[in-house]
Amino acid sequence: MPRSGPLPAALSLLLVTAALLPGPAAAQNEPRINASEDVVIHLYGPAVTLQCNLTTSPSPLSASYWVKNGEEIPGTRKSSNTTEYKILKPRAEESGEYLCVFVFSNSPIANATIEVRATPDITGHKRSENKNEGQEALMYCKSVGFPHPEWVWRKKVNGVFEDINNSSGRFFISNKDNYTELSITNLQINEDPGEYQCNATNQVGSVSVTTILRVRSHLAPLWPFLGILAEIVILVVIIVVYEKRKRPDEVPDDDEPAGPMKTNSTNNHKDKNLRQRNTN
Ligand SMILES: *[C@@H]1O[C@H](CO)[C@@H](O)[C@H](O)[C@H]1NC(C)=O
Ligand SMILES: *[C@@H]1O[C@H](CO)[C@@H](O)[C@H](O)[C@H]1NC(C)=O
Ligand SMILES: *[C@@H]1O[C@H](CO)[C@@H](O)[C@H](O)[C@H]1NC(C)=O
Ligand SMILES: *[C@@H]1O[C@H](CO)[C@@H](O)[C@H](O)[C@H]1NC(C)=O
Ligand SMILES: *[C@@H]1O[C@H](CO)[C@@H](O)[C@H](O)[C@H]1NC(C)=O
Ligand SMILES: *[C@@H]1O[C@H](CO)[C@@H](O)[C@H](O)[C@H]1NC(C)=O
Ligand SMILES: *[C@@H]1O[C@H](CO)[C@@H](O)[C@H](O)[C@H]1NC(C)=O
Ligand SMILES: *[C@@H]1O[C@H](CO)[C@@H](O)[C@H](O)[C@H]1NC(C)=O
Repeated sequence: MPRSGPLPAALSLLLVTAALLPGPAAAQNEPRINASEDVVIHLYGPAVTLQCNLTTSPSPLSASYWVKNGEEIPGTRKSSNTTEYKILKPRAEESGEYLCVFVFSNSPIANATIEVRATPDITGHKRSENKNEGQEALMYCKSVGFPHPEWVWRKKVNGVFEDINNSSGRFFISNKDNYTELSITNLQINEDPGEYQCNATNQVGSVSVTTILRVRSHLAPLWPFLGILAEIVILVVIIVVYEKRKRPDEVPDDDEPAGPMKTNSTNNHKDKNLRQRNTN
């Protein structure tokens, strides 16, 4: 087989280049779209209208429609060479990458991109996170708004939010486009409780929300039990003291009759204690 030399390769490259260069006829038939400028929308701001005008059509137009963040917007299909999309109530979730698309009967589709930008809005987070020491805390924030934000987590120290001090190596941050997660492992009761802030910033603006982290002692689940134990101890002490004071008089008839009375009195104490605990 004859090996292909450098000449045929250069020739084919030349041919490809020639084919890509628009001839006088191709230039005329290249689709052209006159589209609105990129725009910034503001919450409660005026309605915004996106427009695309097809000024040069390569072949008869069969349809046009709008796409937002890669998905066709339902109800926007029509067959006119001018098309509009109205954003009546500007909100962060209306921001994104919009495309108008023109479909032709005999040539490839054409489209134009209009970026609609807005300050991020945080649409999901925890108000508080309650954990025991030694456990792991997990906080997150979810946003809408284009462009996707840069995320920063801070912690309130002496009334001021400061960047997280990771000297203990227990803080882990994971960011997706519109989602961020902060996890703190092996929670410390002395260092970790407090207010944490997630801050979303893009070229238009920034927003932040806070989550309160509470860390309980791992003895916390034992507290009710310790309470009962303390009551029993106090009860026993009272009984012993009571018995010791009574003893001198009761030495002669410390037999059957005294027994029921004693248990009655202890039962009364117990009932009283129980009632008091229930009303607390
Ligand atoms: C595109 O629109 C702008 C104003 O919106 C206008 O000045 C310009 O002439 C238009 N271009 C074409 C090719 O129609
Ligand atoms: C599109 O055409 C309409 C008139 O048909 C004109 O008012 C509008 O400004 C044009 N838009 C752009 C983006 O060129
Ligand atoms: C767009 O459509 C109008 C009315 O249908 C027509 O008059 C105009 O020539 C069209 N323009 C282009 C560029 O196809
Ligand atoms: C927009 O046009 C580009 C080529 O210019 C094409 O690759 C892309 O798939 C088109 N997108 C849509 C949604 O039609
Ligand atoms: C946010 O991210 C999720 C998944 O990562 C995606 O489904 C959703 O469409 C995104 N939302 C925006 C507004 O980008
Ligand atoms: C981080 O915390 C450690 C110990 O808690 C402290 O020694 C250090 O100065 C702190 N670093 C910063 C930057 O605040
Ligand atoms: C904190 O330190 C640990 C251990 O060095 C590291 O794996 C982690 O990525 C750090 N977290 C942050 C938010 O920098
Ligand atoms: C978010 O962080 C940025 C950059 O540090 C700061 O400029 C901005 O004021 C913060 N925004 C809020 C709402 O806290």
